[in-house]
Amino acid sequence: MRIVLVGPPGAGKGTQAALLAEQLGVPHISTGNLFRANISEGTELGRQVESIMREGGLVPDEITVAMAADRMAQPDAADGFLLDGFPRNIGQAKSLDASLAEAGLRLDAVLDLEVPEDEVVKRIAGRRMCRKDSAHVFHVVNNPPRQEGVCDVCGGELYQRDDDQADTVRKRLGLYHEETEPIIDYYREQGLVSTISALAPVPEVTRRALEALPTGG
Ligand code: AP5
Ligand code: MG
Repeated sequence: MRIVLVGPPGAGKGTQAALLAEQLGVPHISTGNLFRANISEGTELGRQVESIMREGGLVPDEITVAMAADRMAQPDAADGFLLDGFPRNIGQAKSLDASLAEAGLRLDAVLDLEVPEDEVVKRIAGRRMCRKDSAHVFHVVNNPPRQEGVCDVCGGELYQRDDDQADTVRKRLGLYHEETEPIIDYYREQGLVSTISALAPVPEVTRRALEALPTGG
């Protein structure tokens, strides 16, 4: 199954994507996580995107689309994937559609996670992420690690993302409304969108997401 997860920063896309990907047996592909891995490995790509991400801007489409295409071309994504944070504007959505169509493929579903803005702000303020793997995500109140500052999954150090400062979060939310929300209407016209409320405990949101998928998960 080929699925896109969309929702504002802090909605819980990464948290849900990790759980859904395991349940559905498809890889979780997060452009944000791929960029962060490049930054921590000190690659050329990482150097190109570091300051843009720190300031909460969007990485140019050319760079993002090429990186996402590379990842989707890996063998583990041959039968499906769960995209988190990509596409993020109409241009990226059209590129994705075109490259899937070239391979005779199409998306199966778009899951739109709806969360009120005040909740998103609280979720981001308390988020702690693993330095070794940004797919490992915690929250100081909602999902605390067993040992403060240490990742339950791999023992990595937990940290607060550079782009999780209040003013950067406001900028990211603004960009979400301007650039990303229009893709929901774009996909709605293709009959692909299921909007679910993500204002519930993590397992309940996973249940809603699975239920909303074309085959019910
Ligand atoms: P990215 O990493 O994609 O960030 P984002 O979209 O802003 O989303 P977040 O990762 O902040 O939130 P999330 O929805 O994943 O929430 P999470 O599960 O962590 O992108 C970062 C940057 O990379 C961008 O700003 C841009 O610069 C660049 N970039 C990436 N993709 C790009 C693209 N396609 N084009 C251009 N640039 C791109 O959850 C948040 C917190 O809430 C956690 O603490 C979690 O534990 C908690 N939580 C989760 N679910 C619940 C729940 N149900 N109840 C209570 N707490 C919960
Ligand atoms: Mg995320």
